[in-house]
Amino acid sequence: MPSSPAGGLIDAEWVGFANGRLMNEDVNISLHTMALARGARIGAIMYYVKAYYAFEILGSKEFWATYESYNGWHRWGLGTAQPSYPWPDVHHELGGARVYYVTKKYWGSTVTDYLRQMVGADLVFDVPDELVKANDELHIPQEAAV
Ligand SMILES: CC(C)(COP(=O)(O)OP(=O)(O)OC[C@H]1O[C@@H](n2cnc3c(N)ncnc32)[C@H](O)[C@@H]1OP(=O)(O)O)[C@@H](O)C(=O)NCCC(=O)NCCS
Repeated sequence: MPSSPAGGLIDAEWVGFANGRLMNEDVNISLHTMALARGARIGAIMYYVKAYYAFEILGSKEFWATYESYNGWHRWGLGTAQPSYPWPDVHHELGGARVYYVTKKYWGSTVTDYLRQMVGADLVFDVPDELVKANDELHIPQEAAV
């Protein structure tokens, strides 16, 4: 099934990453989300982009995540009050841990608003040419900001 990595750039500097994949035509698996620059909610933007792609572009019915860090769990698992499936009967392919899920209905009623508020803006797809040009050549950060 297709995998969907996304990279976030600011003036061509690589600042964020998110990836996931389709498990089947209904379930979208969230894999990793990472911010490479701190304090700008870049990870929140990447998560929004990943979930938006799952629900709005691919038409997935559920989005399955597991949490690799307290920050991730606090931001999204707890932050959007995601329900979970019984463990270990259902476990996530990323390390076999608990699956937290968002349904399409919950995405529409609650999660989009939470993410929009956290990001402070909405996604824009009609991007001016100069913005595309400014991000034409990828620069890899020289230092890790962890
Ligand atoms: C979880 C993660 C993606 C969130 O990214 P993010 O939305 O860009 O958020 P940041 O990590 O920059 O900041 C998180 C919090 O730390 C604090 N913080 C960190 N650096 C800061 C800085 N330079 N200035 C101000 N606040 C800062 C803030 O309190 C911030 O919370 P707030 O935005 O709600 O105020 C990111 O922390 C990350 O990449 N972690 C490592 C990988 C990981 O755990 N991924 C999630 C797996 S489930």
